[in-house]
Amino acid sequence: MKKLLSASLMCADLMNMRNSISELEKAGIDYLHIDIMDGSFVPNITLGFDFVNSVKKVTDIPLDIHMMVNEPSRFIDRMELGENDIVCVHYESDIHIHRTLAQIKEKGIKAGLAVNPQTPLESFEYLTDYIDMALVMTVSPGFAGQKLFLGAERKTKEARQLLDSLGCENVPIEVDGNISLENGQKLSRAGADIFVLGTSSLFLKDKSITEAASDFRAAL
Ligand code: DX5
Ligand code: ZN
Repeated sequence: MKKLLSASLMCADLMNMRNSISELEKAGIDYLHIDIMDGSFVPNITLGFDFVNSVKKVTDIPLDIHMMVNEPSRFIDRMELGENDIVCVHYESDIHIHRTLAQIKEKGIKAGLAVNPQTPLESFEYLTDYIDMALVMTVSPGFAGQKLFLGAERKTKEARQLLDSLGCENVPIEVDGNISLENGQKLSRAGADIFVLGTSSLFLKDKSITEAASDFRAAL
């Protein structure tokens, strides 16, 4: 599967977002990753639905919405998304997460399922009919600038093996959290397909977005 880059906008220059998005377009970024947090599922609050809808109006880059919120079904209708966009919800965020995935699919939007570091991969097993992407969190979600958890590479490899064993060879694995060049290389070899790029590799003090994206691609 093609390796794709998903830029984490919570790590971009929040005071210069329009220009950052233009540079991300020039850099050929494949997705814009927008982290939605409720301060309860994760102890942080970042970007919101008005931001999502504003971004949607100014770019054709597909959106990769990462819902770190409890009971995300309450909010799916707040976003004006299309068939190329993904809404990714956490397995841990609702006891009826199957219903939420079905709700996203019924709207014609791609659905992703995310698991936190400690959540077993079996969580994907009975939901593969409802997912277009599997998000293996490589940090405990909620903050940029963290360090990869120690089992990330093994978990990514086993996620690929599990999905392939379930006939889901075409379901891409996204990894999110401390995706540096070195970690990106390791996780790519382990089977990751979509890389959420934030402070570890894309939004850097000493490199432009275009240079950083090109360096990341070259490292894969
Ligand atoms: C973590 C966020 C990401 C990412 C940020 O919850 O979903 O946006 O970690 O990138 P890094 O980890 O490189 O700062
Ligand atoms: Zn994220």
